[in-house]
Amino acid sequence: MKKFIFIASVCFTFIFFVSSNFAFASASGPGLFKKYYCIDCHTLGHEGGTVGPDLSNVGRTKSLSWIKAQILNPATHFILGKKTDIDGKVYFARMPGFKKTIPPSAVDKLAEYIKSFPYQRANLAYPKPPAGLAFFREDNCIACHRIDGVGGKVGPDLSHIGKTKSLSWIETQIVDPKVHFTYGVPTTINGKTYLVIMPEFKHISASQLNTIARYLKSLK
Ligand code: HEC
Ligand code: HEC
Repeated sequence: MKKFIFIASVCFTFIFFVSSNFAFASASGPGLFKKYYCIDCHTLGHEGGTVGPDLSNVGRTKSLSWIKAQILNPATHFILGKKTDIDGKVYFARMPGFKKTIPPSAVDKLAEYIKSFPYQRANLAYPKPPAGLAFFREDNCIACHRIDGVGGKVGPDLSHIGKTKSLSWIETQIVDPKVHFTYGVPTTINGKTYLVIMPEFKHISASQLNTIARYLKSLK
């Protein structure tokens, strides 16, 4: 019982302090992967960014201690500013070290999660993301926009965009944002101010445009 109260109060304090990140307040592997922004740069399974390598299979080739060292101090493995080839893709080493920001117990949990991932995944049916979300990542919308806590903050959060905007409004915004916003001028959306810089995605195919827009329209 004591233990429960302790855990409950820790959880409560934690949730209280990170209420803005409420959805990721769990201290499990997947929760930590989001909480410490690993997911902004790395894909694991079907979800995540592409700044760094996909980590879905890292557990097959790398030891637990190698993964821990990578989280604490990437400089032990990669030289800053030097090109690194990982699985045929080139990265300029730029992973930040998390020695000062992630407590040791969380580093252990994260490393164990990454290490176990390929083996767990073999036994789990991972849902495929909707096609629109896949394009949203490929076309790099995700670099500037967040959906459900994943992505950049240069542009507005799109988690509920379908509530207020029509399908055709969204399509227009993607191919020709200047119809809605004046380039280079600050604009306020949902109480936050953004500099209008969204690029025109003129060369996107009609079917891809429609797939992304329908996906965004479905976000209520
Ligand atoms: C700002 C982007 C960024 C963030 C945030 C980030 N990483 Fe990385 N990560 C990279 C890049 C780029 C590389 C490639 C090598 C390097 O730069 O160190 C990498 C490499 C790795 C590797 C080695 C992959 C391989 O195939 O060799 C692991 C494991 C890893 N990161 C785990 C994590 C974890 C866990 C977190 C969160 C605590 C995290 N990373 C946060 C960008 C990032
Ligand atoms: C370089 C950053 C950047 C990229 C890349 C980007 N956007 Fe944007 N987006 C913005 C900014 C900033 C705004 C605010 C208005 C503007 O700049 O036109 C915006 C506005 C929007 C809006 C309107 C939001 C609202 O609440 O009114 C939608 C929808 C949108 N973007 C979708 C997309 C999609 C889909 C993609 C990928 C095909 C994309 N954006 C790529 C920065 C970006």
